[in-house]
Amino acid sequence: MPFVRNLWYVAAFTDEIGRTMMERTICNEPVLMYRRENGEAVAIGNRCPHRFAPLHMGKLIGDTVHCPYHGLVYDHQGQCVDNPHGKGIIPKGCAVPGYPLMERHGLIWIWIGDTERVDESLIPDFSCLTDTRNFATCKGVIHMQANYELITDNLVDLSHVEFLHEGILGSEAIKRGKHIVKQTGLTVQSDRWCPDGLAPPAWDAMFGNYGKPVDHWLNMRWDPPAHMLLDVGVTPAGKSRDEGIWVYGTDIITPETETSSHYFWGVSRAYDLDKPEAGEVWEKAIAIAFDGQDRPMLEAVQKMMGKDSFDEMAPIHIEPDTGGLRCRRVISNLLKEQERAQAA
Ligand code: FES
Ligand SMILES: [Fe+2]
Repeated sequence: MPFVRNLWYVAAFTDEIGRTMMERTICNEPVLMYRRENGEAVAIGNRCPHRFAPLHMGKLIGDTVHCPYHGLVYDHQGQCVDNPHGKGIIPKGCAVPGYPLMERHGLIWIWIGDTERVDESLIPDFSCLTDTRNFATCKGVIHMQANYELITDNLVDLSHVEFLHEGILGSEAIKRGKHIVKQTGLTVQSDRWCPDGLAPPAWDAMFGNYGKPVDHWLNMRWDPPAHMLLDVGVTPAGKSRDEGIWVYGTDIITPETETSSHYFWGVSRAYDLDKPEAGEVWEKAIAIAFDGQDRPMLEAVQKMMGKDSFDEMAPIHIEPDTGGLRCRRVISNLLKEQERAQAA
């Protein structure tokens, strides 16, 4: 299954990239990232075209990368600029790809596609990650041995929290809640409104062991390929959200291969901004729920599927799948368009 091209993918959090070379496979492409001496983050291919050594094992000298195997030197755009052998002639076509990068919202966005089609306006809004006036954010990266669309299914269909995260994030109000899916352009919105029920245990604890009925909302925004922002919170039943507690959850999935992904998560809370312990509670909850429950389930699902495609396996669908299926349709249409353009 190819990946959608001519889109931004998240390659890293900005603070992951510095003067130490960092490699990450994105959409099956080996990518090397580092900062130039002037601080600019850059990304080039990580596979030396001579004998395919991983460049990140080499040396970063100034702005240039020196291959660890036979010493060819590449500049920050991926062009070979020095051959230390013989007469020093640089073979024609000796280069690795150079990728357009954007630093925005505390994230490094990499453009996978044709450089002449780079379009900054396609980066979705994740400004909560860097909006320190209104939010306090904790964040991290999880590696999952699962296809990115399986992870989208998981995140867009939050009906699973009652089962997979029983006793932590689940509540009976979620099951009887109202689920509405809407699409605007390529953006899918999958919203769940769960009024007048007891808060999920983790939320109840964070809300000072409130113990009384709350309104709970879980509104997920999705943009291709798998950039998700969850607006989620609880407030006393019938009251405005300002009287409760809520967060923006960043869930951005970048495909590594067809069967593995990088999961960039963030929790930007709109309450207790000056209490780091409120962030620690979230970090623990993420470790238990995402890493300890979602990841093993998604990896087990991927194992069950092997390399078979989702559609060929003819899965059964139920109501909560409406949002995830809409996202899958957007991806499938983009891939068909891509195929047509390549054939033309
Ligand atoms: S593999 Fe890089 S110079 Fe030989
Ligand atoms: Fe989950």
